[in-house]
Amino acid sequence: MSLKNKKILLGITGSISAYKAAYLSRLLVKEGAEVQVIMTAFAAEFITPLTMSTLSQHPVKMSTHDKKTGEWSSHVEMGNWADLLLIAPASLNTMGKMAHGIADNLLVTTYMAAKCPVIIAPAMDLDMYKHPANIENMNMLKARGCHFIEPGEGELASGLCGKGRLAEPEIIIQELNDFFQQKQALKKKTFLVTAGPTYEKIDPVRFVGNFSSGKMGFAIAEKLAKNGADVILITGPTVLSAQHQSIQRLDVTSASEMYDACMQYFPNVDVAIMSAAVADFTPVTLDDEKIKRGKENQNIQLVPTKDIAAELGKIKKKSQLLIGFALETNNETQNASEKIKKKNLDFIVLNSLKDEGAGFNLNTNKVSIIDKSGEIIKFKLKSKNEVASDIVNKIVNDIKTIK
Ligand code: CTP
Repeated sequence: MSLKNKKILLGITGSISAYKAAYLSRLLVKEGAEVQVIMTAFAAEFITPLTMSTLSQHPVKMSTHDKKTGEWSSHVEMGNWADLLLIAPASLNTMGKMAHGIADNLLVTTYMAAKCPVIIAPAMDLDMYKHPANIENMNMLKARGCHFIEPGEGELASGLCGKGRLAEPEIIIQELNDFFQQKQALKKKTFLVTAGPTYEKIDPVRFVGNFSSGKMGFAIAEKLAKNGADVILITGPTVLSAQHQSIQRLDVTSASEMYDACMQYFPNVDVAIMSAAVADFTPVTLDDEKIKRGKENQNIQLVPTKDIAAELGKIKKKSQLLIGFALETNNETQNASEKIKKKNLDFIVLNSLKDEGAGFNLNTNKVSIIDKSGEIIKFKLKSKNEVASDIVNKIVNDIKTIK
């Protein structure tokens, strides 16, 4: 029960899904949290303050002062009181105001003054959700450290179908529990995460590479940083950008550059997660000039690269965790289990190319986590963000046992 005695400030904004905030508030109280509610004027068009004050067991705040009594509701005081500001549902309008500092109501003013973590659960129509203005606003808020609980996909109140419905209250509660647990365990820990492919140059314009996009590694880095960890992200070539300010990004191209960077940073981290798809072979020679057509056959001789994970495994201290990935096409569990031993890993995240929705360049993944003790946890097909949560949860568990 990580929500017990937690002081949660619940912000409700104008969205048809505001009705779910009633049940959410009830669940928070059941979990042992103390809940205070701030509603925007538009939220009160969808759900009554009376419902929310009854369920939260506190009077609902809607403006900086009560016109009748002249009583002042201090946004600074409320921001200081809270262990967490949860805005659910968060409308496009409110997120826009938060991103741009337009503090024209009690909720946004309190957000501006709050020193506590902020979790935002957006809800809106699918086209509004993916509008560039909204995406940019959400990215701004993410970069400033706000956490997001992604909306669900499915039928929307508008009758359209897509992404935009407020995450179910049970999911929000789960995310909050994870947040408080992870925050405790990951605070002041340093992680090394590798991501993306490596490119092994053949000549000035060509390389041997692979289809890795870096999405999984970036999702893990973001998840860790959001939960208070410092992250060194060593990435091969990718179009992705890291959002969180606690992520220190280092760009490398080849397996050998990735090896050097990992060897430099590994001794000072608590955990290393090797999600990069490192080339296993590299050309023996690098042509200075572009190789010309004309020859009947062209052979490129390749030699093995260094196995970065295995090298880190050799110098790993008892206080460190080393986590690998395995992408297999056959004998998956056996191959992955052998890699745990060969590379001295603590656990390995296995994905099989046979599983639909798993693998390179997709937004989803289906993984199993195999522990060095032999224990296997199989997960269903999920978004890469959710898979990152599962991996981080496992790390949080394991961190407790290494110190
Ligand atoms: N890995 C690494 N350095 C390499 C190759 C792989 O650090 N030169 C890491 C990957 O980042 C991953 C794990 O080792 O965490 C397993 O990678 P994978 O490609 O599945 O295994 P390999 O050891 O390369 O074996 P194979 O390709 O033969 O399956």
